[in-house]
Amino acid sequence: MNRIELQKKYDEYKAMGLKLDMSRGKPSPEQVSTMERLLTAVKTNEECFSETGSDCRNYGGLDGINEMKRLLGEMLGVTSDHIIVGGNSSLNLMYDTVARSMLHPVEDGCKPWSKYDQITFLCPVPGYDRHFAICEFFGIKMINIPLSEDGPDMDMVESLVANDETIKGMWCVPKYSNPSGFTYSKETVHRIAAMKPKAKDFRVFWDNAYVLHDLTDMPDELPEIFSVAEQYGNEDMFFEFASTSKITFPGSGVSCIAASPRNIKRILNALKVQTIGHDKLNQLRHSRVFKCYDDIVAQMKVHMNIIRPKFQIIYEAFENGFEGYDNVSWTIPNGGYFFCLSLPNGTAKRTVELCAEAGLVITPAGAMFPYGIDPEDSKLRIAPTFPSCEELAVAADLLTVCARLAIAEKYE
Ligand SMILES: Cc1ncc(COP(=O)(O)O)c(C=O)c1O
Repeated sequence: MNRIELQKKYDEYKAMGLKLDMSRGKPSPEQVSTMERLLTAVKTNEECFSETGSDCRNYGGLDGINEMKRLLGEMLGVTSDHIIVGGNSSLNLMYDTVARSMLHPVEDGCKPWSKYDQITFLCPVPGYDRHFAICEFFGIKMINIPLSEDGPDMDMVESLVANDETIKGMWCVPKYSNPSGFTYSKETVHRIAAMKPKAKDFRVFWDNAYVLHDLTDMPDELPEIFSVAEQYGNEDMFFEFASTSKITFPGSGVSCIAASPRNIKRILNALKVQTIGHDKLNQLRHSRVFKCYDDIVAQMKVHMNIIRPKFQIIYEAFENGFEGYDNVSWTIPNGGYFFCLSLPNGTAKRTVELCAEAGLVITPAGAMFPYGIDPEDSKLRIAPTFPSCEELAVAADLLTVCARLAIAEKYE
């Protein structure tokens, strides 16, 4: 199709008055409805007691109930003494962890991060916008680290952390990373675990949000980080985060932070000032529905069967729409909630604009980069999970038309 034909097709779409939203990485109503049994998993006074006999309606249990700690530990491949159960959002735990580190020393003999004129986090890109928002909120400088299929550019990471005492953190979404869907290779995981940062209080924020979120029967494998880090004497260098947001309910799930037992002690010392504890009845409901780890795995298969066809619909539309476009490519991850579309430089923003004018909302270009700036203006995040299959077919075709038109406008 030449530019005139593309414009004609685009104008036809525009005239349809569409209202489509493919911007959010949310489970669909169908997905959350599969967990209806969770709503009533604890119904009577008699059912409100944990396995140790503690009354979940009452105070106590700062780090969570045993059965939930065990379950989340199994999810992450660690023992319960590595786990503190949080509220319904792991993002909240990440924010709190940064906030705590700004105010109190992360490590013996160190000063709080806020006592420095400037501290820096390393940010593999494209990445998760809310990680970057936390840094921006606290005035933490961000350095882009290119992310490829194997993970972050480790040559760059190693040399930066080894030489700069003010580099205090690094964001990692090691499995089915948001938005590209890449999983760090074993070698990358070992290199991260073996790092020798100049700052004693350097911490890796290991956001394992998609630890069980496979889209194929041949899932990616990620080494368990604490056992690897232990080999290098670096167990304290990691804070890991996860939640059941995309297993049960994003609005009412259970999150956790995993850390070395030594760090867990430090965190609990601060947490006891902050809260009496998180919602234990919700933890109890979750552990009644998921009696063991295999029950979670079974639930993830239910999600996979709903989500997988949605990814397929978009891949097919892209294969047709971008046929012959050598400068357009996209990732095809084995799991997660997103994939990444790479367009020729300077066309991503314009594509989003054209989509919006035709009634399709997609994630803003640049959102996957610190400060909202994609230096090449080439990457788009595709989020197939929330819309219906019918909506997705239209949205994906419209998106290819918009991208091709943007390319034609810039390069023809
Ligand atoms: C990488 C990543 N981390 C964390 C979250 C949010 O997790 P939670 O719902 O537990 O706050 C998301 C949600 O999209 C995500 O993509």
